[in-house]
Amino acid sequence: MSASEGGTSAETSASGQFTRDEVVISAATNSSSASVLTRMVVNGISHSLYLDPRASLLDVLREQLALTGTKKGCDHGQCGACTVHLDGRRVVSCLTPAVQVDGREVLTIEGLSPEGGPLHPMQQAFIDHDALQCGYCTPGQIMAAVACVQEGHATSADQIREYMSGNLCRCGAYVGIVAAIQDAAPKMRRA
Ligand code: FES
Ligand code: FES
Repeated sequence: MSASEGGTSAETSASGQFTRDEVVISAATNSSSASVLTRMVVNGISHSLYLDPRASLLDVLREQLALTGTKKGCDHGQCGACTVHLDGRRVVSCLTPAVQVDGREVLTIEGLSPEGGPLHPMQQAFIDHDALQCGYCTPGQIMAAVACVQEGHATSADQIREYMSGNLCRCGAYVGIVAAIQDAAPKMRRA
């Protein structure tokens, strides 16, 4: 399907999954004349997408690339549930215009550890410390926690609380989250 045909098309492997380095052409569902060709690498896979310039990165990830691990909480930059990494830095994807991601790299929770491989130390630490209840905030918490360590902002519980303060948890799993980050941080530094 060409971009001008509208709708969304995606080449998939026999298993129905996107394969690495595969190019996906997708058209905005409305106003194709206003669509903006945007190229981005998401979890190591190159995508070329025709996007509505108003679309958020969050909506493109979830609705066009089927990466639903990234959650929509407030959709207003207030809760952190939509946190992903953009060129190695954490961003709230609900406030990130997808067209501004052109030529850049995105990492979501789906790409944090290799498929079928061991979990990322932060994912394992969240399990080990019961750092979740309903789990809705957890992908955003984990992406923010990984960034927190990489930024050098996980040297004490107080510092972790400060630099994780943009990620809210309605279930109140904060004690476990801080413990998980303190556990994973030295393992990440050794890796
Ligand atoms: S959904 Fe993006 S900050 Fe809440
Ligand atoms: S585990 Fe439920 S919102 Fe955080």
